[in-house]
Amino acid sequence: TIIYIPGDSGALALGADKVALAMAGELAARGVDAKIVRNGSRGAYFLEPMVEVESKTGRLAYGPVKASQVKSLFEADFLSGGAHELALGDPEKIPFLARQTRLTFARCGIIDPLSLKDYERHGGLAGLRKAIGLTPDEVVAQVTESGLRGRGGAGFPTGIKWKTVLDTNDAQKYIVCNADEGDSGTFADRMIMEGDPFVLVEGMIIAGLATGATKGYIYTRSEYPHAIAIMRRALEIARKAGILGADVLGSGRAFDMEVREGAGAYVCGEETALLDSLEGKRGQVRAKPPLPAHKGLFGKPTVINNVISLASVPVILDKGAAYYKDFGMGRSRGTIPIQIAGNIRYGGLFEAGFGLTLGEIVDEIGGGTLTGRPVKAVQVGGPLGAYFPRALFDTPFDYEAFAAKDGLIGHAGIVVFDDSADMLKQARFAMEFCAIESCGKCTPCRVGSTRGVEVLDRLIAGDAPEAQIDLVTDLCQTMKFGSLCALGGFTPYPVMSALTHFPEDFRPAPMREAAE
Ligand code: NAI
Ligand code: SF4
Repeated sequence: TIIYIPGDSGALALGADKVALAMAGELAARGVDAKIVRNGSRGAYFLEPMVEVESKTGRLAYGPVKASQVKSLFEADFLSGGAHELALGDPEKIPFLARQTRLTFARCGIIDPLSLKDYERHGGLAGLRKAIGLTPDEVVAQVTESGLRGRGGAGFPTGIKWKTVLDTNDAQKYIVCNADEGDSGTFADRMIMEGDPFVLVEGMIIAGLATGATKGYIYTRSEYPHAIAIMRRALEIARKAGILGADVLGSGRAFDMEVREGAGAYVCGEETALLDSLEGKRGQVRAKPPLPAHKGLFGKPTVINNVISLASVPVILDKGAAYYKDFGMGRSRGTIPIQIAGNIRYGGLFEAGFGLTLGEIVDEIGGGTLTGRPVKAVQVGGPLGAYFPRALFDTPFDYEAFAAKDGLIGHAGIVVFDDSADMLKQARFAMEFCAIESCGKCTPCRVGSTRGVEVLDRLIAGDAPEAQIDLVTDLCQTMKFGSLCALGGFTPYPVMSALTHFPEDFRPAPMREAAE
């Protein structure tokens, strides 16, 4: 019998380690022969810690389990499927999970993250084996035809980025994985690194074979200690198994990689600041051009892709571009792992083909707010994403559809707010966030964000509101078109969407109080 207890950070935060300890204690005390495996999370965080038992008849889930309930699980003979109030039945049939299309996250929460055997048994390495039999051009063509676009947020076609690097003729090229995941409400990168690290390794090797790069780096944040530890162990295991090193799976082709930790600056998720940080410098944005694809890490041609972009490559190579492309809508092909967070009843990771509406995600899948109050706003795409009101809930999850509504999908994190949220304060928060995180290189962002906080403070104080609204609108225009990178350039999204969709929150305080 195998007992799965997630070692994923989200589950740990909810007490998974205590559950594992209690479980091990009960097993020892009762002399039961069962093995505890620390898997990743399936992403249904409202059920974590979710314990699963693998018996001859299949897998059964229980959750959310508290350490104090472990004894009662044994008393109910849960290892043999005994009835218990925490029983959830077959995990695949839990509605939140059953409704998903899991391509990138197919194994996450199911396998032992550090077992290569498990990984291969569930389809791992099949994509890499196929890539080894293809020419670099053929691999790039597969990725291009799949329609995969950068999942970090910008949505640039991954195949075109790879082709740019393939077409350079430098002896040294690099693959850099952006695992800095600084957006509020996002956790997809972390979940993959903790729950299925080999899929990222496989994706990076395929990127290396496709472009002629022999060295890879995963750049991640120091706030992800568990992901870092698991990734590092996965690299050791892959190296020992001949998947990484001088002769990748006997192909005669070399690829190796390592994990590097950032020091915790949001801007280091911007690709050129990330490269500076990786080179040991202070993370500051570089002007483009040159593109990293031409002159990236240490001045060499570099593919920089987000974790999810790279982790989606193995399934594309394995099942074919047409299979992947079949999911989605418009120019947004394949699946997207939506991270549902904030004030929400069923929070977690939901992978689905593009095209679900925001309303379906928030109301049906997420079940509305946890507080039970009406949803007021949903911020999509991290702290630089726009706030969407209920009136825009028919917007389908698609890069172009969100852009058409002056928003962005970004890294697909959505944060839900109920009707107690004050959107003027949220707008101020966006400016303050930008002021704190600005790298300081360009004036519209460095100075503009600080002036923006001041203007919004005057607005909060009710000082000449019409003039402040004109000023902040003008300032947002300057920041949007004058900033060097997305941090300064996208801060206007939350500010202006709050102002546009929730003008009532921008009235002077005395008027608002009178209205209330
Ligand atoms: P961008 O549009 O400038 O570039 C996108 C990517 O395509 C870059 O890697 C760029 O180097 C590459 N590229 C562009 N033209 C190319 C060409 N001709 N050949 C090869 N490669 C080419 O966008 P940027 O500034 O890199 O990213 C902005 C996005 O980052 C935003 O949309 C935002 O959603 C997202 N973001 C994500 C965060 C996260 O935590 N994941 C945090 C903050 C922002
Ligand atoms: Fe730096 Fe802000 Fe300018 Fe980006 S927009 S380069 S973070 S100062």
